[in-house]
Amino acid sequence: MDILRHCDNPAIRHALGGIAPDSKIRVLFVCLGNICRSPAAEGLMLALTAERGDSERWEIDSAGTGGYHIGDLPDRRMRVHALRRGLTLDHICRQVRESDFDNFDIIIGMDQSNISRLRSMAPTVEAESKILPMAAFFGDYSAYDHVPDPYYDGDEGFEKVLDILTDATRNLHDTVTAHIDSDDSCQKGG
Ligand code: 4NP
Repeated sequence: MDILRHCDNPAIRHALGGIAPDSKIRVLFVCLGNICRSPAAEGLMLALTAERGDSERWEIDSAGTGGYHIGDLPDRRMRVHALRRGLTLDHICRQVRESDFDNFDIIIGMDQSNISRLRSMAPTVEAESKILPMAAFFGDYSAYDHVPDPYYDGDEGFEKVLDILTDATRNLHDTVTAHIDSDDSCQKGG
């Protein structure tokens, strides 16, 4: 991936600027229902940090802007497709709350509607600056500008979402760790 491109994004640089080198990196993934896209992003990020041996540096969670599925496991179709990739999704659906803006450093929305809703909820301008679109971390999928909602799609929709999120979570991990570890490309870029 191109670390410079992601770090050059002023919104990303500002959001990451609030993370101290020795503190946990707290990331909240947000979609509408919190049963398809955001729990998949959470599961992929958890697996990635385990694979890269730095799980203890991260605090990862997900939530939905809507409250339709609170208390539910992820959508069965998403769990089936994730499991085919060796990923068990066991997040319990919850709704975004105002305290999330205190408890997380970066709040990542899957699409523009999620972003708009999050912005309307942000209690302060500083809190609002923590909100980033997942598309800011697309590398192989830069032709897309959001993570498409697979809820009304067939199998291909779920597979596509997992492909997009796999790419984006890798780029997110690379970008954040480069920034925290004071990688030159992140500190000086832009
Ligand atoms: P998600 O997908 O936002 O990726 O979790 C959806 C899940 C449920 C609904 C919409 C989108 N729904 O309308 O119930």
